[in-house]
Amino acid sequence: MSNIYSTLHLAHPCFTPSFAPVDKTSSGQDTPQSLPQNLEAQQDGHYSVMLPEIIAALAPEDGEIFVDGTFGAGGYSRAIVQQADCKVYGIDRDPAAHESAKELPEVKAGKIITLSGCFGDMERLLADTGVSKVDGITLDLGVSSMQLDQAERGFSFQTDGPLDMRMDGPNSSLRQPASHVINTYGEKEIADILYKYGEERKSRLIARAIVTDRVEKPFETTLQLSELIRRIIRVKPRKDGKSIHPATRSFQALRIYVNDELGELERGLEAAEKLLNPGGRLAIVSFHSLEDRIVKNFLRERSGGKPQGSRHSPTVEPAALRKHPFTLPSKKAVAPSDSECKENPRSRSAKLRVAIRTDTPDENASDKVGGQQ
Ligand SMILES: C[S@@+](CC[C@H](N)C(=O)[O-])C[C@H]1O[C@@H](n2cnc3c(N)ncnc32)[C@H](O)[C@@H]1O
Repeated sequence: MSNIYSTLHLAHPCFTPSFAPVDKTSSGQDTPQSLPQNLEAQQDGHYSVMLPEIIAALAPEDGEIFVDGTFGAGGYSRAIVQQADCKVYGIDRDPAAHESAKELPEVKAGKIITLSGCFGDMERLLADTGVSKVDGITLDLGVSSMQLDQAERGFSFQTDGPLDMRMDGPNSSLRQPASHVINTYGEKEIADILYKYGEERKSRLIARAIVTDRVEKPFETTLQLSELIRRIIRVKPRKDGKSIHPATRSFQALRIYVNDELGELERGLEAAEKLLNPGGRLAIVSFHSLEDRIVKNFLRERSGGKPQGSRHSPTVEPAALRKHPFTLPSKKAVAPSDSECKENPRSRSAKLRVAIRTDTPDENASDKVGGQQ
């Protein structure tokens, strides 16, 4: 991964970072001149992943409007409004995030407005408040440490809790809990979910054990499932002597499936293209290759990186003749600094991708006028 910030300010005339870019080598080491002075990744005991890099990428200016699609504890939103006299719409699907947000001074002051729902629906959520265009959008994908740490939410394979995993909370009427998948889906369906969303190579073995065991006793708790997986999978220690818990991949897979996380991401990217003003910034932090692949491919395609025409279809489609809706400061993702990884090991797998909206209409808008771009 590389240093995007050396080229960031050249990417679009409207894009002017408000402070020194983060200078990072491909190994993720900070250089001393790098980080903004007034930014604490740690606010009130909560750590926000790659916060200085996010703020450098969004470069908030007075009067601008931002969307933080994964509000969580509000670390990104608060840092944005601390940088400039701007406004943030903070979206989260978790009712618990909205409860704690009520206490934040920036929320009380009206600088941050929280919206309940999914970022895949951000166009509608913003339209309901009268907003149709914004200057920056950020996503910090996945679950928060608060969600992981609360055993009763059912995300953890190490502490016992109900096998739930719904980010929308245990009272969600929109989604079924993970226990529903494990107790009612067929063996092949379970194996496919574990393989597709967790890249679990032992998916068939695990699925077979699940459908056998659930006849005796349905799966109700997280430890019931993680113990079963531990019984049947042996994980080799890595070179550094550490090993991941054998249930890691299966729990990731179930969580992604239960919350339709990849579908959300696809809808969120489409919505961002529609909502961003020319010069608007998009900054997305992902934590595993399934997410990063979707972001990378979307941005590559929407910035013209995709081959246009092939030997099977040699004529260039009209869409390919259009200008592109995004430009990329760098095709490569940025990694967290070594110091951040030491301070907050959860950051280790983070990857940040940044894109700048051009003035090309979004794909659907162009289709509506008959593709005459
Ligand atoms: C990693 S945390 C974000 C932390 C935040 N950046 C901070 O600094 O406090 C992810 C949050 O996004 C929320 N979330 C995940 N997917 C979502 C979606 N599709 N729509 C809305 N919120 C989502 C989760 O409920 C969680 O609170």
